[in-house]
Amino acid sequence: MPTESTPLDEILMTERELWVDGPPVETFARLRRECPVHWTSHISDYRPEPGYWSVTTQEDIHTVSRDWQTYSSELGGITAVSESVMPLELTRAMFIGMDPPKHDRLKALFQRGFTPKRIADHEATIRAIVTQVLDGLAGRDRVDLVTDVAQPVVSRVIGSFMGIPPEDDEIWARLMNTVLGAGDPDINPEGVSTVMERDVPEIFERCRALIAARRVAPSDDLTSVLVHAEVDGHTLEEHEIVMGFFLLMAAGNDSTKATYCSGMRALMEHPEERAKVLADPGLVPGVVEESLRMFPAFAHFRRTATRDTELHGQPIREGEKVVMWYVSSGRDESVYEDPDRFDVERNPVHQAFGAGGRHYCLGTALARLELRLLFEETLARYPRMAIDGVPRPVESPFANQLKTFPVRLEG
Ligand code: HEM
Repeated sequence: MPTESTPLDEILMTERELWVDGPPVETFARLRRECPVHWTSHISDYRPEPGYWSVTTQEDIHTVSRDWQTYSSELGGITAVSESVMPLELTRAMFIGMDPPKHDRLKALFQRGFTPKRIADHEATIRAIVTQVLDGLAGRDRVDLVTDVAQPVVSRVIGSFMGIPPEDDEIWARLMNTVLGAGDPDINPEGVSTVMERDVPEIFERCRALIAARRVAPSDDLTSVLVHAEVDGHTLEEHEIVMGFFLLMAAGNDSTKATYCSGMRALMEHPEERAKVLADPGLVPGVVEESLRMFPAFAHFRRTATRDTELHGQPIREGEKVVMWYVSSGRDESVYEDPDRFDVERNPVHQAFGAGGRHYCLGTALARLELRLLFEETLARYPRMAIDGVPRPVESPFANQLKTFPVRLEG
């Protein structure tokens, strides 16, 4: 672990040892103070890859995020690691890995269904999913909040959007978790390469069956939207449909689960904050925003410089990787007072969904609704829930989430 005296050029932000206990928030605080646009010389975990610029402040992330002409999502990959988990060709088949104009055309196909108004229509259904999962805990004293509550809820919600039968939820959750937590030794004991050799082919295989069914009989789910989408007069290639499906599944699966579990942990670790919410459930939306700020589900996303440029006085050369660390910008002390304090009344504006550029999260309304319902129902039923063991984070510089979180329901 780097200390305060480790030379800045020896700090390698994506090395696994920094992420064993969750994001290295102190190292990020040091970078914001001393070197807000910082160079990591290389990546040694995974397959060795060139290094990258770390962008750590809210203002600079905003600049990068807005300027897609200079900072491309298509040129080199969307995470610090370009190719070790998934070939670039597959990343570029998802609209999160495209630049305008194709990005905009594909995203537009989904935007109608994800507006706050359209998403609000799902409130009763999503609340029923949450209560059904919580009902299933009856008679138990101890549960794992990740696997027993968060996972089944988020899987069913996104599964219903995608048209997946409920009996397949567990299989899809496993596939998504292995790809997104690829480097974690518990999730992938056989190593990162098995993800490409075993899990990605299984995703393709299962997805092809769903696609074939929609070709014959279109339905009103999002898989059907992909299958029948026309962009510039052409339908999508099969790998684009599969990866579009993968993007929505992955984004819907991991993100909300992560934020709910980390937010519940913060409430249990700060009983005085939880007491305020129990006394006034109207504060739940504030819990959602504060959890997003402090525990963004995705620690970073990345761009690639399309030309020589400069950021915060730091020259950046064409082709270099530029990593936007949302785990850092949520604690930027130039924006937030006492940024490491969990405060349910802060109601912060944050960058957990991106910084407002072209790739701003499609699922914000859905994520906010799911999170509000999860917090509301959990707090109403189990106001004294208590931590009952060591919560363990996924060892990943990308997926910022717990993989186990044992709790006692009655506290
Ligand atoms: C707590 C929940 C969530 C968080 C923190 C989150 C975060 C993000 C972030 C940071 C990005 C921007 C990536 C970039 O800068 O390149 C993004 C994009 C995206 N998110 Fe979310 N997300 C969440 C929930 C969801 C949900 C529920 C969906 C539903 C399907 C979703 C779908 C997407 C899609 C499709 C994109 C790509 C948008 C584009 O490239 O234009 N997200 N998300």
